[in-house]
Amino acid sequence: MVNKISIIGAGRVGESTAQMLAIKKLTQQIVLIDLDEKYAKGVALDIQETASVYHFDTQLVGSNDIANIQDSNIVIITAGIPRKPGMDRADVLAINLKIIDEIMDGIIKYAPNSYVIVVSNPVDVLTYYANKKANWPRNRIMGQAGILDSMRLSSFIAIETDYSINDIQAMVLGGHGDTMVPLTRFTTISGISIEHLLDQKTIDQLIQRTRDGGAEILNLKQKSSAYDAPGAAVTIMVEAIVHNKNRLLPCITMLKGEYGQTDLAIGVPVILGGNGVEKIIELKFTEQEQQAFDTSAQVIKSLIDEI
Ligand code: 2OP
Repeated sequence: MVNKISIIGAGRVGESTAQMLAIKKLTQQIVLIDLDEKYAKGVALDIQETASVYHFDTQLVGSNDIANIQDSNIVIITAGIPRKPGMDRADVLAINLKIIDEIMDGIIKYAPNSYVIVVSNPVDVLTYYANKKANWPRNRIMGQAGILDSMRLSSFIAIETDYSINDIQAMVLGGHGDTMVPLTRFTTISGISIEHLLDQKTIDQLIQRTRDGGAEILNLKQKSSAYDAPGAAVTIMVEAIVHNKNRLLPCITMLKGEYGQTDLAIGVPVILGGNGVEKIIELKFTEQEQQAFDTSAQVIKSLIDEI
């Protein structure tokens, strides 16, 4: 357990994350920061009132003052405007960039030793920007996307096959968008690649549904984007860091030559442990996989060029 985890943005992803961090007893204190002070306090109190059910001693604090993140072990950035139906994740870039810029000022000032997990979209570009702004070692500022995308692919495989979700492991790399890179070679049911178990047409459909996974939720809910699965995905990352688990997970990290890319933040398999991104795992891609990865990298790069 760590002393303090702060969540910037008490919206739905922030709230869902806070609830799960409390249930999993990962920290003594959770600080929720939001421009709307009363709302942040309301979310904090609402979750606090679940303590007797989930038996956690975590203290929840809501505030509009970023100074309250002082000395956080981990800071999670969920603030920003979510996309509305019909919008692309990139459509919210300009607004969210300004928001992240201010938040990073606060993090650099008040929590200079923290690990930072970026969740706001477009998450690859904002993770890049956060790294550039702070200029900390790259192991400490990372983004969440690939875990969520892999969770979605796993779920769709389970729904399609009716096999246990417990035996399914998916690996989705690249950017968090239409060009994400689901690796079917490394997506397995009890270690057996789905390429051996499902026909190509079914695989293609599952992959397309995964690419559209965020939009599917948004179109169904209309009033909001996904937040339960994103919150769970962030919790997996926090847990890996807090408990020094050295898990192999797809995370957005800055590349310095790995996968033939430099000066870019993109989803790759990493070892996530007590020092954040402990190591980047470099896979030997097939030509087709490399091409898909490069295409995804190019899309992120063109967005980076805009900023
Ligand atoms: C998602 O994929 C909103 O990017 C988020 O649901």
